[in-house]
This record gives sequence, C-alpha cells and structure tokens, in this order.
Amino acid sequence: MSRAVCPGSFDPVTHGHLDIVGRAARLFDEVVVAIGVNQSKSRLFGPEERVAMLERAVAGFPNVRVEGFTGLVTDFCVEHDAQAIVKGLRSSSDFDYELPMAHMNSALTGVETVFLPTATGQSFVSSSLVKEVASFGGDVSAFVPDFVLEALTRRLAERT
Ligand code: PNS
Repeated sequence: MSRAVCPGSFDPVTHGHLDIVGRAARLFDEVVVAIGVNQSKSRLFGPEERVAMLERAVAGFPNVRVEGFTGLVTDFCVEHDAQAIVKGLRSSSDFDYELPMAHMNSALTGVETVFLPTATGQSFVSSSLVKEVASFGGDVSAFVPDFVLEALTRRLAERT
C-alpha cells in the first residue's frame, strides 16, 4: 500500500492545492492531507476550520483523508506509515524554498519528497494572494471552491 502526505497550511484551500491533491491521489493508493502550522505565516482560519474546509473539498476523492497536525511533518509521516510527501511547485522560487525542506525531511526519516509541477492555469495562485486580493474586494471566485469563497468573504467582513 503506497501512502503519501500532502502537507500545507491551506489557509484557505485553493484550486491549486486541489489540483495537486487530486493528482497525488492518482499516483498513490492513499493520500493524507496534513494541515499544519507554518510559523512564518499569520492565519485567517483556525485549524478546525481548515480541516472542515479540506474535508468538504476532497469529498469526491475516495482515497484522500484529512488530518491536522502539530510538530514535524516527518513525525506525521512515520505515524501514518507514509513513504512520500507530495508538494506542488509553481515556480523556481518554490523549488528553492522546498528543496532544503525535502533534504531535511529525507535526512530526518528517509521520507521521499515528490514534486509535482502545478497546473499552468494555477501557477500564480496562492492562499496569501487570494486573501490579499479578497481583502481589497477583488474577485477570487476562479481560485477557490464556492464554499471557501463564502467563508472567506464572511471572515474578512467580520474583520473590518
Ligand atoms: O502551505 P505551507 O505554508 O507552505 O505549509 C508549510 C508546512 C506547514 C507544510 C511546513 O511549514 C511544515 O511542514 N511544518 C511542520 C514543521 C516541520 O516539519 N518543519 C520542518 C520542515 S523541514
């Protein structure tokens, strides 16, 4: 049984994330979406909210499940007997950011990192940009599922 972990902050989940999760689900028997904490980013949605959004977003993938985690992603992979971490790459700057983490994670437990190039139509989409554009009233409906757009609009309205 091959099992991969797709880790990320998912604050909030975008179509770019879902493209990567869906493609990982075709490559591995099972995929666990692991919602973690990136200490260098501020969050709009709490961990339970992000788990609930991901569960709804991946409901159509029978071999994908969602869990929150704290601590090291390598510990999460060992606990879940996952042989690989799957990450999307939008650009060479993503690669520069991800490569040392892939080496570190491999050095810690031997877990492999598999990089998938993001679909060309999603290569400029990030949760951070979606939040910024939405916070100024821009239309981000093309980049996130409808229910995420509603949650995002509500949360931003609460904050003003
Ligand atoms: O979507 P993001 O913000 O790029 O996700 C980053 C995340 C949460 C996957 C990353 O920060 C992470 O793996 N955090 C867990 C702590 C950890 O294992 N750090 C060492 C990485 S080498």
